[in-house]
Amino acid sequence: KLENCIRPQKFIDYIGQEDLKDVLEIAIKAARSRKDVLDHLLLYGPPGLGKTTMAMILASEMEVNYQITSAPALERPRDIIGLLVNLKWGDIIFIDEIHRLSRMTEEILYPAMEDYRLDITTGKGSSTRVRSIPLAKFTLVGATTKVGAINSPLRDRFGLVQKLRFYEVNELSKIVLRTAQLLKSPLSEDGAIEIARRSRGTPRIANRLLRRVRDYAEVKLLGEINQDVAAEALQLFQVDPCGLDWTDRRMLSVIIEQFNGGPVGLETIAAATSEDTQTIEEVYEPYLMQIGYLGRTSRGRIATTAAYQHLGFKPPNEQMLLL
Ligand code: ADE
Repeated sequence: KLENCIRPQKFIDYIGQEDLKDVLEIAIKAARSRKDVLDHLLLYGPPGLGKTTMAMILASEMEVNYQITSAPALERPRDIIGLLVNLKWGDIIFIDEIHRLSRMTEEILYPAMEDYRLDITTGKGSSTRVRSIPLAKFTLVGATTKVGAINSPLRDRFGLVQKLRFYEVNELSKIVLRTAQLLKSPLSEDGAIEIARRSRGTPRIANRLLRRVRDYAEVKLLGEINQDVAAEALQLFQVDPCGLDWTDRRMLSVIIEQFNGGPVGLETIAAATSEDTQTIEEVYEPYLMQIGYLGRTSRGRIATTAAYQHLGFKPPNEQMLLL
């Protein structure tokens, strides 16, 4: 699939997240020279920043196989057991949304991660038996957008806990230029920067916007994608110059127009935008907070002066902004 060849396969092709790459390169070199498996790794951060891609790169750098799954697919104990017993030495198992594991699945993972052992309980009451099955030594890579939602017994079993951060415009611009080349789509430097600026610090969004702009340029016979073409196309798709979409703007305008800038509860914002609270918290809020448009207080969300200005509202006076 094209989607999979757009993902970088090796560290040298993975742009950005320099701190993370430095840490992981050391871990890989150390594990390889000891002929050991890589420590369990927990990656956290907003969606679309390259957690899955990183897990795939780790497998390729370690020259091991990998299995990709997510917590919702591991609802029943037999789902995780089936995966674990089939692992070979050094294999990487990637579990996305790991904060959503069921209690039983999580408890199976504890001895599996710590001692590479599967404890299976059979029978009830006085005839209860625990049978231990040895597992191959493996690496668990967990990914989550909500590191605070992971129970500490699980979190403590990861030797490495690493955060992914939003990307800079110049990094995203390199990423879309690379993708454009793979898609055989002509993209100029300034076109790439325009797409990058509107991508909310997120490679997945940058690559998605590139496809929309490319469709637009092809249909309108515009040839190379330059800054004007990119800006025109993205305006059509209602992605504003800061990358905010309809939901972002609606969130901010509800806080400003209906609640005097806040504080407003998460539930209220969710209802006004027809999004669920989880999506608001994990997808929309991190970027709005990163660019300083949204604040979180103990009493709810507030819109900042920058948000007022961005949406063309007159900011309230200083007095009202003091909380
Ligand atoms: N595609 C998606 N994320 C990427 C990254 N960090 N580097 C290169 N290409 C990417």
